[in-house]
Amino acid sequence: MKILVTGGAGFIGSAVIRHIIDHTEHSVCNVDKLTYAGNLESLASVSDNERYCFRRVDICNRAALAEVFHEFRPDVLMHLAAESHVDRSIDGPAAFIETNIVGTYNLLEVAREYWNKLGEPNKSTFRFHHISTDEVYGDLHDTSSLFTEATPYAPSSPYSASKASSDHLVRAWKRTYGLPTLITNCSNNYGPYHFPEKLIPLIILNALQGKPLPVYGKGDQVRDWLYVEDHARALYQVLTCGQVGETYNVGGHNEKKNIDVVKTLCSILDELKPLASNTAACAAMRASGLEGKAYEELISYVKDRPGHDQRYAIDASKIERELGWKPDETFESGIRKTVQWYLDNPSWVERIKSGAYQSWLDKQYGDGSQA
Ligand code: NAD
Ligand code: TYD
Repeated sequence: MKILVTGGAGFIGSAVIRHIIDHTEHSVCNVDKLTYAGNLESLASVSDNERYCFRRVDICNRAALAEVFHEFRPDVLMHLAAESHVDRSIDGPAAFIETNIVGTYNLLEVAREYWNKLGEPNKSTFRFHHISTDEVYGDLHDTSSLFTEATPYAPSSPYSASKASSDHLVRAWKRTYGLPTLITNCSNNYGPYHFPEKLIPLIILNALQGKPLPVYGKGDQVRDWLYVEDHARALYQVLTCGQVGETYNVGGHNEKKNIDVVKTLCSILDELKPLASNTAACAAMRASGLEGKAYEELISYVKDRPGHDQRYAIDASKIERELGWKPDETFESGIRKTVQWYLDNPSWVERIKSGAYQSWLDKQYGDGSQA
């Protein structure tokens, strides 16, 4: 197959492309605008492969998108390009409306025009796979209920509202025009190549530098964590075996309070990179009046996120039952691999610390002391 992937230079998109190139015979064309979150270094292991190509295109540019379809002639499409960070969406929603809603609309229209002209069997086997989030369902306030594919949409943030809008567009293009679509809604991902504005990589990198570990509010919000490579496998499974028009929820059965995630990261770091061997972090801590014996001393409770969702938790029984997918990693195995990856790849981290990233951190956390 020829697979067009949008947003392939991002965290999940790059895991999907590495999975396809490493484990299948298919070809991939990666369409990515390369925003602050796009990083071609995450694709270094596959970029020389003859089955991989890259086009720097904004999905809001319909003519450029049509050109890619014309040249590459995809058999299927996986749409991951998006603005993806809740805090940024609160700070400036415009880019989320543009890329997540208008960009998805453009992609649907270009795909529809292309699909309409396909002959059989390609027309029947074409798929528009839209990758979305569990955040479209809003949040849960008890400790036991789960999001199913039938849970009504109730997004809370500009990010989740823009993703919900894009899901509705995709569903409408299936029902009205017959475009063969698939939708997946996944819980929080973590793993290698994760941009350090999100909780887990931010905490790892701040701790390694002896900088404060910002926990919003009381740290009692719950997220359901899935290792990114498990998500990539789920997406491939849905793409190749999913029923047209269906939605599949994807999750890791790993519900954790934020504060527990942060403490787990601290204790793994105490073991893998003890402060006694991290003189720079130790010195930074002592300069702030801390003992410098354990990373947990760095935990700092900060102002809560406006509209902060309390709990997300996914019922992933449909994809498990119908498509035979389940996660390989437990949270304990995946989080340890993730910390080890950040310890082993300081050069990846160094290169993404661009001016744009630094100025976001200064704006978000005020004193410029993060990451
Ligand atoms: P990311 O922010 O790491 O990557 C997004 C990619 O999209 C980047 O490479 C960026 O350059 C590209 N992009 C942004 N705007 C673009 C545009 N206008 N045109 C072309 N490319 C553009 O995001 P991610 O975490 O990899 O998420 C990928 C998808 O999965 C998103 O749709 C997100 O909503 C969804 N999702 C993410 C999570 C998560 O935990 N990260 C969970 C569930 C679903
Ligand atoms: P995040 O990684 O931004 O993902 P999402 O908002 O999509 O769930 O945040 C995960 C959780 O961690 C969320 O409840 C907000 C919280 N959080 C902090 O407590 N401190 C931080 O510095 C960040 C970035 C997030």
